[in-house]
Amino acid sequence: MQFLTIPTQPIEGQKPGTSGLRKKTKVFMGRHYLENFVQAIFDAIGGAEGKTFVLGGDGRYFNDRAAQVILRMAAANGAKKVIVGKGAILSTPAASHLIRLNRTDGGIIMSASHNPGGPDEDFGVKFNMPNGGPAPEAVTDAIFAQTKAISHYRIAETTDVDLMKISDQTIGNMTVCVVDPVSDYATLMESLFDFTKMRALFAGGFRMRFDAMCAVTGPYAKEILENRLGAPSGTVTHATPLPDFGGMHPDPNPTWAHELMDEMMGPDAPDFGAASDGDGDRNMVVGRGIYVSPSDSLAVLAANAHLAPGYRAGLKGVARSMPTSAAADRVAEALGIGCYETPTGWKFFGNLLDAGRATLCGEESFGTGSDHVREKDGLWAVLLWLNILAERKETVQEILSTHWRKFGRNYYSRHDYEALPVAQAEGIMGALRARLADLPGLAVEGLKIASADDFAYKDPVDGSLSKGQGIRIAFDGGSRFVLRLSGTGTEGATIRLYLERFVAGPEGLDTEVQAALQPMIDATEILAGIKAASGRMGPDVVT
Ligand code: G1P
Ligand code: ZN
Repeated sequence: MQFLTIPTQPIEGQKPGTSGLRKKTKVFMGRHYLENFVQAIFDAIGGAEGKTFVLGGDGRYFNDRAAQVILRMAAANGAKKVIVGKGAILSTPAASHLIRLNRTDGGIIMSASHNPGGPDEDFGVKFNMPNGGPAPEAVTDAIFAQTKAISHYRIAETTDVDLMKISDQTIGNMTVCVVDPVSDYATLMESLFDFTKMRALFAGGFRMRFDAMCAVTGPYAKEILENRLGAPSGTVTHATPLPDFGGMHPDPNPTWAHELMDEMMGPDAPDFGAASDGDGDRNMVVGRGIYVSPSDSLAVLAANAHLAPGYRAGLKGVARSMPTSAAADRVAEALGIGCYETPTGWKFFGNLLDAGRATLCGEESFGTGSDHVREKDGLWAVLLWLNILAERKETVQEILSTHWRKFGRNYYSRHDYEALPVAQAEGIMGALRARLADLPGLAVEGLKIASADDFAYKDPVDGSLSKGQGIRIAFDGGSRFVLRLSGTGTEGATIRLYLERFVAGPEGLDTEVQAALQPMIDATEILAGIKAASGRMGPDVVT
């Protein structure tokens, strides 16, 4: 075995975001593409010499090959040890946990999250910091700068490591520690939740369906739900991670998880349903005959978290992204704890969690998490729900109804207008932004505008300022809409319209969601004219 230094040249466009570098798989498989990016990571973090990393991915196409390359490069760059999940598998939250548990120097996660996988779909590589969270902008900027300056990369010339064998192996002086991807994560979950009570719930006939969508949470859900909690075998469906996710779009929302939705709304629905995404950080929960919006889920979890052992001492605070409904705010107020409204994206939660200001955080885009790791965590959210169900012995429907009666209900929906011409989308946003100062006091469709602004966030921990994070138009009575451009789309521009209407109750708590939101939908069109400007009849995706 020898270490090689291979000459290379910068490749255009290797700019990582906070969810890493995401490209078509074939682009990643191109000559030097993966190698350049990985070398840039090592160079940007001050080299790999003597360091320990975690490595794993969501099992999508090219995951296994990429892992071998990254291991050989880590060895050639002088790393001391790499802890890698068997089969190069690790869910994103499990990777975050292993990074923290082993006090490592960070980790490399191979995933394109909820994007489809396969030779013609997407692949991604992301670096996480020693705290277990995604690299902040300063680090991703440094990685990008290295991709532009690269002239060579280092790699060991050797045979593949046997990633199917749980054991310590070596590449030169570097130890490759192949570990069970599930067990440490499952142990963490056992430390947070009352597995005895949850086991009793299943033993009492409680029925659940977990749709792993042929993605990474399959083995985690099988081990935890079926093996450790005694749920009947077959509770977890689509449980084997497949390189192309079986052709599914592994994004847990009512559109993509339609099989689960059909079952949960059908005549023989189980008590509880859940799904997770490609890399295991997103979640959707559904009760028998009732869908739980992510915003409501966060609020219910915040109100009931103390029922789980890991949160018995109470929450330090709750954080939600700005477009997420204010349902959690009312819970925080009732609990007398801090409540933070951050810009969209998980990275803003990291500082609050590290500083001990928040315990739970969530986004309307099916992301929920806590300070147990530094990523959102799909299965964790499902288990917290299960723990609450086991304690309260009520149905999901009953828990939601009680919650709404106590706190009021924030009807909520997101309407996405996808792949609009960039100039058109910017025109719509710009026109509304130009009128913001004139809007307060104006009545639209009988709704009086209370305030209008472009959301800016000053991080309470490091003082940094993030501007232009979305237009908020709030009406009297706690209803509002928010408009922002997606930062993750790959084609044209996507406008996300977030609609929210607050009903204090008890009347009007049981209306159909879109119907309840109709006044807001009409007011938005009058004020922002998305349909008029785009010529679209309506949104492409409604969640
Ligand atoms: C979307 C979601 C956002 C989430 C991000 C990464 O970003 O809306 O909440 O943090 O994906 O999973 P967007 O496309 O809206 O910028
Ligand atoms: Zn994800």
